[in-house]
Amino acid sequence: MATKPIVLYGDPVLREKSEPIEKIDSEIKNLVADMIATLRKAEGLGLAANQVGVAKRVFIIETSMIDGSDEMLVCINPEITETSGEVEYEEGCLSFPGIFERVTRPAEAVLRATDLDGIKFERRADGLFARALLHELDHLNGKLFIDHLSSLSRQLISKKLKKLRSEAA
Ligand code: NI
Repeated sequence: MATKPIVLYGDPVLREKSEPIEKIDSEIKNLVADMIATLRKAEGLGLAANQVGVAKRVFIIETSMIDGSDEMLVCINPEITETSGEVEYEEGCLSFPGIFERVTRPAEAVLRATDLDGIKFERRADGLFARALLHELDHLNGKLFIDHLSSLSRQLISKKLKKLRSEAA
């Protein structure tokens, strides 16, 4: 288990559509262990595999940051099967250090995924939990939270984004 550098905005891997995971082998287990170490060190809420440079369909959520439960939720080949409502809230991303913007997303979501033991599960989420699931699923599709902003909001942070891109290059 080792921490890995978190990929910053500007790295092309963040724009890749991640590949489904066919088999939960030792390579995937090691990847997830490294992601957990990385997320804990960064004290973040969620992390997708392509944020450590691996374009595979897995993300993790530190649920202790949501409801105080002590669970690192591992979501392999996740899908959102239902969404409802709409809510605007401030959002950030470990690949965009120092940038926080208000983003509109569904208020509730239902997730289906597979855990590290290969067991399929379903979770209903609202509030910050739903937001985290939707944000991380976007990552696996090469989509970033800034893609949800209005062109005006993006313009207002364009200097910060340019600086990040130059650091990532
Ligand atoms: Ni993110």
